[in-house]
Amino acid sequence: MHAAGAPPVTVWPAKWEGISAPRVSRRYLSIRFRTSFYSQSENHHYSRRSQQYWDKFYKLHKNKFFKDRHYLEKDWGRYFDDEIESSNGKVVLEVGCGAGNTIFPLIAAFPKLYVHACDFSAKAVTLVKSHANYSSEKINVFVCDAAKDDLCANVVPFTVDVVTLIFTLSAVSPCKMASILENCKQVLKPNGHILLRDYAVGDSAQVKLHDRNQMISENFYFRGDGTCSFYFSETYTSTLFQSAGFAIVDINTYCKEITNHSRNITMQRRWIRGIFGRS
Ligand SMILES: C[S@@+](CC[C@H](N)C(=O)[O-])C[C@H]1O[C@@H](n2cnc3c(N)ncnc32)[C@H](O)[C@@H]1O
Repeated sequence: MHAAGAPPVTVWPAKWEGISAPRVSRRYLSIRFRTSFYSQSENHHYSRRSQQYWDKFYKLHKNKFFKDRHYLEKDWGRYFDDEIESSNGKVVLEVGCGAGNTIFPLIAAFPKLYVHACDFSAKAVTLVKSHANYSSEKINVFVCDAAKDDLCANVVPFTVDVVTLIFTLSAVSPCKMASILENCKQVLKPNGHILLRDYAVGDSAQVKLHDRNQMISENFYFRGDGTCSFYFSETYTSTLFQSAGFAIVDINTYCKEITNHSRNITMQRRWIRGIFGRS
């Protein structure tokens, strides 16, 4: 069974065939999906206690786990840049900001940006506030569960040019993803965009989690540290955003083979990238 309105998930799109390792492909295709998608996702221990596990994660790793994400300004610079000379820059909201590995490189690249940033982990918000480049004049960071707390309590409605969802939606149970998009819509300007970057189906991490029987529901898994991870297909992602009233500007899957020579292993990494506009 699939999420309401969502088509069956493409587990191994034909476009990857030429670049995927056959061993991984066969194992992945052997996945047999089980009963109720919704109840499994929502009622699962790790899904219900997601906020608690992310708090634990930041207590343990502080700001040392994720590297700064410098690719956003390269790939999507035109969404952050000011086309016209003005004293005010664009307004960006980062949902699920973590320790700030997306927002601080963006602010460094586009100094006129004003950034709203939220996370449901209070520990993550504290890490952002303690960052050397934090400034309360440039950044409004707040604790918010974007799946249930109204973003408009902290952000003026329809004032945001760009919402970034960078490895955040995958941390959310699939049955809560639509609520997050609805919430983002309430703060986005009518011509605003959502930029998405996240894990894609067939990623080597998914294969590992599947082999370890850590599946919660279709394409949704829990990790050893209790945090969760969803793997997106283009079809699933398109339907999710279109159902929430967004138009697809671009969507693609980036695939990269990474070899660890010292361990003599090759990994198939897959990421989804999407740009969505309010329709
Ligand atoms: C993989 S981290 C990504 C952090 C950041 N976006 C980055 O680029 O490094 C996912 C983040 O999403 C946050 N998160 C998960 N579910 C959330 C929710 N419902 N509301 C707000 N934040 C959430 C987690 O606490 C975590 O900080």
